Amino acid sequence: MNERMPEATRPGLDRQPAAVTAMFDRVAPRYDLLNLVMTGGYVTRWRRAVTAAIAPQPGERILDVAAGTGTSAVPLERAGAEVVASDPSPGMLAAGRRRHPHLTFANADALDLPFADASFDAVTISFGLRNIGDAERALREIARVCRPGGRLVICELSTPTTPLLRAGHRAVVQRLLPALGRLASADPPAYRYLAETVLTWADQRALAAVIRECGWHDVEYRNLSRGVVAIHRGTRPMDAA
Ligand SMILES: C[S@@+](CC[C@H](N)C(=O)[O-])C[C@H]1O[C@@H](n2cnc3c(N)ncnc32)[C@H](O)[C@@H]1O
Repeated sequence: MNERMPEATRPGLDRQPAAVTAMFDRVAPRYDLLNLVMTGGYVTRWRRAVTAAIAPQPGERILDVAAGTGTSAVPLERAGAEVVASDPSPGMLAAGRRRHPHLTFANADALDLPFADASFDAVTISFGLRNIGDAERALREIARVCRPGGRLVICELSTPTTPLLRAGHRAVVQRLLPALGRLASADPPAYRYLAETVLTWADQRALAAVIRECGWHDVEYRNLSRGVVAIHRGTRPMDAA
């Protein structure tokens, strides 16, 4: 198996950062609702699993990268952590600030985070890594801001575990999601983009290998909904420079 990111996830191909950010600006007002509808409500279940994997402790500093409207950050804050929800899309940030005025938001690109070295106890990213042109560079930058011994939790759409499920999943992603996107949103290209990024993204093992290469230890993953989604975890080594 190729344990690197597939070519389509590499920078400079079709994932131009400005175009991706502009697309999220456009879908921002309806993003959370569409997410709920298009996952058949499963996103709520996946978010609970992510929170359990992060195991936020009161007083911990946690960075939610590519946090969008902040929905992925809310349960961490409720657990008593000091959370920063960062994202480069002004539209997603504006929708988030309206919906969750108590959350701390920061306008930040994962490739150049405006935070000091080792300034967070844990860093998490939900459904965001796939959208970043250079995912490997983002994983190294995220490692920089995480303290030695700190945790990484990534939640991302992934590869279903059996050939039959993979075939059904491909049909849903290629046909049903764009059709739903056409019905429910004013931005059909956003849902074609979603289908493309899902079908070209690294599988569970390949992503785990890349996370290790980018400076994380004890990397492991857990499938949710039979691999439709996977949660990867890692730890920043104690002797990290
Ligand atoms: C599918 S949304 C996920 C939002 C949120 N984490 C959630 O779980 O609902 C993907 C997010 O990635 C953000 N994004 C795209 N490129 C990024 C980059 N280079 N750095 C950080 N975030 C980025 C987008 O602005 C968008 O808000």
